[in-house]
Amino acid sequence: MMTIKEWINYAEKKLCLAGITSPRLDAELLIAHQLGLTREQLFLNYAQPLPEEKISLLEQCLKRREQREPIAYIFQETEFYGIPLYVNRSVLIPRPDTELLVEHALAELKKSLTPSPLIIDVGTGCGAIAIAVGLHINSPCTIIATDISLDALFVAKRNVAKYNLDSIVHCICSDVLAGLEVQAEAILANPPYVAECEWKSLMPEIRYYEPRESLVAGCDGLLIIRRLIQESSVRLNPGGFLLFEIAPQQCKKIAELTARISEFRAVEFFDDLSGQTRFVMLKKKGKK
Ligand SMILES: C[S@@+](CC[C@H](N)C(=O)[O-])C[C@H]1O[C@@H](n2cnc3c(N)ncnc32)[C@H](O)[C@@H]1O
Repeated sequence: MMTIKEWINYAEKKLCLAGITSPRLDAELLIAHQLGLTREQLFLNYAQPLPEEKISLLEQCLKRREQREPIAYIFQETEFYGIPLYVNRSVLIPRPDTELLVEHALAELKKSLTPSPLIIDVGTGCGAIAIAVGLHINSPCTIIATDISLDALFVAKRNVAKYNLDSIVHCICSDVLAGLEVQAEAILANPPYVAECEWKSLMPEIRYYEPRESLVAGCDGLLIIRRLIQESSVRLNPGGFLLFEIAPQQCKKIAELTARISEFRAVEFFDDLSGQTRFVMLKKKGKK
């Protein structure tokens, strides 16, 4: 019978052949999850025999990963801002960079003088941004989490309920901000921003498994962003802000787009974890 360590070695080789960039780590994550162990506990149990009843389940997980399915979909769980979230193939797996968007949003909201701000998360997916803000903001607030995909909203609602945020985070189907007759203090978004022609060059994990509509936005990737900027200029309160994620190469175009909208008074760009420009903050003119 194989030991845990032997199974990890065997799985690592298979994942390496399948072109996975982190085969050892992935093998460890697969087995640790199935055995209900942390990675540290796994190392301490290296010499233990693999429980017989786990073998076929582990083989199934390994096969899925060899076919390049992301681990988050295999486990139906991911972590965002330290918060475990349910995910399935209806939603994009939240990325670590997007946690910085939450950081910037919370910092800006802290400066706000509005006692109970209304915040909108456009294209909420599994609800990651809305939930992280809802759990970490230190003041009463209302959050509207929107998505055009009903399947995504179903996932978001499940996560909102998991954290008892139902009275704060309201999941609503909407095409960008269409039909939302509200005025917000903050509009946050990680919108689709990949250009059509870039889709083919993305990793198999993304192309084969993540929803295309959550990533691709027309021939220049700006289809949704153009609308987001325009519609936010109407839906923000004076002094409110729009904060969204972009591709680094879109900076110049975005600066041009925003310069044409007189309702905004300032545009600021922020970097991601690798030092690339990844976020834009636009502040609406008015009091503050
Ligand atoms: C890049 S994903 C971001 C998901 C989540 N906010 C996150 O950061 O993990 C973009 C989301 O926007 C949604 N979306 C795409 N087009 C939309 C539109 N026209 N209106 C509203 N949401 C849209 C997609 O369904 C998807 O959930």
